[in-house]
Amino acid sequence: MSRPRILSGMRPTGPLHLGHLTGALDNWVRLQDSYDCYWAIVDWHALTTDYANPGPIAENILEVAIDWLAAGLDPERATLFVQSDVPEHAELHLLLSMVVPVPWLERVPSYKEQQQQLSDRDLSTYGFLGYPLLQTADIVIYKADAVPVGEDQAPHIELTREIVRRFNNLYGPVFPEPKTLLTETPRMPGTDGRKMSKSYGNAVFLKDAPEEVRQKLKPMVTDPARKRRTDPGNPEVCPVFDLHEAFSPPETRAWAADGCRTAGIGCLDCKGRLTDHLLERMKEIHSRRPEYARRPDTVWDVLREGGKRARETARATMDEVRAAMKIRYDASS
Ligand code: TRP
Ligand code: SF4
Repeated sequence: MSRPRILSGMRPTGPLHLGHLTGALDNWVRLQDSYDCYWAIVDWHALTTDYANPGPIAENILEVAIDWLAAGLDPERATLFVQSDVPEHAELHLLLSMVVPVPWLERVPSYKEQQQQLSDRDLSTYGFLGYPLLQTADIVIYKADAVPVGEDQAPHIELTREIVRRFNNLYGPVFPEPKTLLTETPRMPGTDGRKMSKSYGNAVFLKDAPEEVRQKLKPMVTDPARKRRTDPGNPEVCPVFDLHEAFSPPETRAWAADGCRTAGIGCLDCKGRLTDHLLERMKEIHSRRPEYARRPDTVWDVLREGGKRARETARATMDEVRAAMKIRYDASS
């Protein structure tokens, strides 16, 4: 079993939507064929922004885990776990905090961006500044060879590599430098045309039943210039067409683009076909999900089992880290 190892994580912010599917999960499911995969639900990362309102985190962990299993993350082949079930992440975060210069954290682009975006919260905290350092600990504690992430997370993986170099220089080679496995993230607008997001109320969730998906897509925003059925439209500016790009086969995309430009089809036909393909894509999810949703205990069991396995790996690494940092005080060190 010497498959290269990868790790990625998601914050437990609630039910997952189509953006999570095309931007991460589809890829993660495939990666399970060739990598030793660690999939973490990072509850401490959720606390960095939601410390004042931690109530929903437990429920959100369950939502994410159910959606993961429904999407095809496979506990037989991969390790699915909750970050806080492996407290060694926190120990490593602390030890790394001794060596990381504060300006390295302050210059991470998401630091100031998020503070501005979430201006209703006080994010001048120590924990929030340490967000990417905790992420570094998540990754290197498993000596991950690579990290599949979208573009937005690339600076965090770059920082991880810098911290690894600094650590290895100071204490000897303990950690490999993880590569970034950049995930292509197709544009995924929500029903109002803005980026799909739970907080915008424009999302199609993996948990939505087929009829609900259909109802959500019917009133979806289209090319605003196409007011009447007889007006030709431009698929390039239509959010519905972005979804075709993500879910429909080439023939259907050609049919939609052509029919749109010539006013040969109506927007309802166009959305109808899209919905057919989307529902086809969601078929397995729809068939797997209810079973997990009905049995939260088994889902928690999966996470607990994964946590045990992850913890063994993490403990072994921490032994090495303590030895390298000269804080392993048993006879053998
Ligand atoms: N910061 C990531 C995000 O917001 C989540 C995350 C936490 C993560 N730890 C990680 C991703 C480790 C990859 C590897 O999406
Ligand atoms: Fe959009 Fe399709 Fe309507 Fe064209 S026909 S505007 S692509 S929904």
